[in-house]
Amino acid sequence: MLVNTNPKALLGSLLLLLLLPLVSSAPQSNCTSCAPNPLASIYPNNATGTINSTTAVLLVPIAHARALLPAHLAPLLLPHAWTRFSIPPNQYPLVVETGIDHDIRFQGINAVADFSSLHFTFPFIGLLGDNATCFRYTSYIYLPATVPLAVSGAQAYGENVLPATFDPADAAYRRTSSGSISQKIYSGQNSQALGQPPAARTLFAPALSKRDQFSPAFYRNVTNQPIFGNDTTVCDNMIRFWNTSVSQGEYEPQDLYGEVELGPPLVGGRDRVWRGVKAVGVTTAFLENNYVPCVGLRGYKGTGSGDSG
Ligand SMILES: *[C@@H]1O[C@H](CO)[C@@H](O)[C@H](O)[C@H]1NC(C)=O
Ligand SMILES: *[C@@H]1O[C@H](CO)[C@@H](O)[C@H](O)[C@H]1NC(C)=O
Ligand SMILES: *[C@@H]1O[C@H](CO)[C@@H](O)[C@H](O)[C@H]1NC(C)=O
Ligand SMILES: *[C@@H]1O[C@H](CO)[C@@H](O)[C@H](O)[C@H]1NC(C)=O
Ligand SMILES: *[C@@H]1O[C@H](CO)[C@@H](O)[C@H](O)[C@H]1NC(C)=O
Ligand SMILES: *[C@@H]1O[C@H](CO)[C@@H](O)[C@H](O)[C@H]1NC(C)=O
Ligand SMILES: *[C@@H]1O[C@H](CO)[C@@H](O)[C@H](O)[C@H]1NC(C)=O
Repeated sequence: MLVNTNPKALLGSLLLLLLLPLVSSAPQSNCTSCAPNPLASIYPNNATGTINSTTAVLLVPIAHARALLPAHLAPLLLPHAWTRFSIPPNQYPLVVETGIDHDIRFQGINAVADFSSLHFTFPFIGLLGDNATCFRYTSYIYLPATVPLAVSGAQAYGENVLPATFDPADAAYRRTSSGSISQKIYSGQNSQALGQPPAARTLFAPALSKRDQFSPAFYRNVTNQPIFGNDTTVCDNMIRFWNTSVSQGEYEPQDLYGEVELGPPLVGGRDRVWRGVKAVGVTTAFLENNYVPCVGLRGYKGTGSGDSG
């Protein structure tokens, strides 16, 4: 996700990659349990990959969501856009995505190693002031410092990158003996090694009741709203396909139910635990159009049935 394919930035980052072995010997993660990118051969000239992710929806009072947003974005929330998915207008669906990007390809090469991430995001923002087109704001993103292309790619959008280590580091999640799945994110380079508590964690089990699920259309929708950071002029038009081989059959999306804990700075000064959180576990193939002028995305509603809702 958020891979920087802007030629200038790419050059700078490739230089960084070349220098990296001199300054860091940290191993790069590699998801061996992840299926290969099904889009690479279809779109060889675009940046493509897969994201094996848990997309969790934290329902928060709308006033709380406004307080967490920068002042210029707070008035731009679009309640009528989420009530369409049976979420009340006064409850805001804040989206936390964790997972691993895998097999990222651009012009035939795998220039970026697999990397884990946590994205703290606010969908349904009418960035263009048209009271219609929905964008997704990323305030914070946890990323491994060992993948500088991912870090510079996110920073180029004005996203606040927090360096982290992930447990597990080379897979989307860990499966517990009881069949739940979990992920832990440790702030900085050393806190995990020093035995400090994680800065964020997720714990999910399969959702047993229909009441505990959002519709597939809702998830396709939020994962396909163009992404932006503090730079509100350029957008990440990341197209997440829900209809390729990595999202079907044995890899069919799984409705999940569980808990998310987030520490500072994401939600202010203290830790917060959300229980009864609905989520979906899915791998989506993606095609990423980077640094697209946001104004050009007026009326954007995805490109087809596999990436819209
Ligand atoms: C990652 O794993 C694949 C096989 O799953 C292997 O072909 C590739 O060389 C590995 N890459 C790194 C950087 O270890
Ligand atoms: C997603 O990650 C899980 C956990 O590592 C793995 O078992 C599964 O095969 C992955 N799915 C795909 C489509 O790569
Ligand atoms: C692939 O990249 C090209 C060049 O940036 C762009 O014009 C095209 O729309 C992209 N393809 C898709 C399917 O988005
Ligand atoms: C925004 O659009 C919704 C749905 O079309 C409408 O109900 C609402 O009144 C509009 N708000 C403004 C400020 O125009
Ligand atoms: C983004 O903007 C918010 C609020 O204006 C600010 O607190 C934050 O530091 C900014 N992040 C970056 C990476 O500039
Ligand atoms: C899969 O999704 C893509 C993107 O939305 C769409 O263009 C394509 O028609 C879909 N394929 C099928 C078989 O539905
Ligand atoms: C998401 O839903 C909103 C409002 O319901 C709609 O305007 C928008 O086109 C949808 N976007 C995508 C990518 O499906």
